[in-house]
Amino acid sequence: MTLPQTFRIKSFGCQMNAYDGERMAELLGADGMRSAGDGEDADLVVLNTCHIREKAAEKAYSDVGRLRREDGSKPLIALAGCVAQAEGEEARARSKMIDMVVGPQAYHRLPQMIAEAAAGRASVDTDMPAAAKFDFLPARRRSGVSAFLSVQEGCDKFCTYCVVPYTRGAEISRPFADIVREAEELVAGGAREITLLGQNVNAWESDGRDLAALIRHLADFAELERIRYTTSHPVNMGEGLITAHAAVDKLMPYLHLPVQSGSDPILRAMNRTHTVDSYLRTIERVRAVRPDIAISGDFIVGFPGETDEDFERTLNIVDAVRYAAAFSFKYSPRPGTPAATMEDQVPQPVMDQRLARLQARLAEHSTAFNRGTVGKTTRILIDRRGRKPGQMIGKSPWLQSVVVETAAPIGSMLNVKITGAGPNSLFGAPLVRAEAA
Ligand code: 5AD
Ligand code: SF4
Repeated sequence: MTLPQTFRIKSFGCQMNAYDGERMAELLGADGMRSAGDGEDADLVVLNTCHIREKAAEKAYSDVGRLRREDGSKPLIALAGCVAQAEGEEARARSKMIDMVVGPQAYHRLPQMIAEAAAGRASVDTDMPAAAKFDFLPARRRSGVSAFLSVQEGCDKFCTYCVVPYTRGAEISRPFADIVREAEELVAGGAREITLLGQNVNAWESDGRDLAALIRHLADFAELERIRYTTSHPVNMGEGLITAHAAVDKLMPYLHLPVQSGSDPILRAMNRTHTVDSYLRTIERVRAVRPDIAISGDFIVGFPGETDEDFERTLNIVDAVRYAAAFSFKYSPRPGTPAATMEDQVPQPVMDQRLARLQARLAEHSTAFNRGTVGKTTRILIDRRGRKPGQMIGKSPWLQSVVVETAAPIGSMLNVKITGAGPNSLFGAPLVRAEAA
């Protein structure tokens, strides 16, 4: 087979995977390939997979199967991401269509693997070297208005339900200087907002600097308008980061702080290392310095041993925090994790019912939060066109999409008054200068 000319990368799962997908695209681009257009058959398909829940992991294999073309041929296929990391050689045993298996810490080697695969040699690379892949990736060039920047990977927390410590390895912080260089490249390439990414982003540290120090440093970039970070662990929510929410204007008032459950016995069984009370106190401290902050969270229902009473406590914490947004999931037993073999696995119908009740409650709070912003004046960062002519869409500080009639271009900041709230977005009207002042 000749070397592939065109590629398509499909990323699933978290924002870290989206980031890795972008970097793989840049790497393949630098290697002389181009991204296949809509509807065009790509010579190479990279499936950048997620292993977090069983459904996501199984999807990887059905997606591989679907890459068979009508004439029986197939593209070169690279299985990347967390399923690749978790399954390694086994992935090829499950599907012979897969030519390459490449883990999240090894994808800088893709060009070599592709050359080998094109010569008929399949390869598997799930090395997790301490030496960062980042040193082997090309510099960032063009960037979207809103860019991701990975600063920390991996996890040492070992929540008993979670595969991340196994798929992404130990907690590693990228060096300060590397991050600053990448941020400069992104801003030069057009980024106006940077979201710092890490599985435990608030555990980032380099040469005695913590995440708050990094944020303060980036805030001095003149052309950078906004800074965000995700995902944080409650035990790493240090005082410095909390006060940064008051002191740094460019740090957006939004905090994604997963709690998973509102019941202490379940949090203990999950090995979360925080309690309901310590979590709520953290939220209080953040709100004390930044009262308008939007809090979002992650929840798992049906963790082994979760009783009706435990679940009621989860509804209580939802009411106590009044989440602006949230992700909620049914517990999914993952091979190799301690919780998978715990007794008292919760039956599916009970999980279904709990998830529906939880999601209804979360929706009440997010709707209330969105309605609460109606009438406010705020600034949005225009990031795309709206559906109707003359409409543009921008993000509020609280990460809501705001639809506005304006000629303001993508990448500009616009002062608006929020005029209405729909189920998925807000509506705004541009302010004239006098009003905005
Ligand atoms: N089952 C269900 N949800 C899970 N999460 C992580 N592992 C599991 C699992 N085994 C959820 C958690 C985490 C989010 C990224 O995914 O809520 O915060
Ligand atoms: Fe999925 Fe976790 Fe991997 Fe992200 S890090 S892709 S959430 S398994």
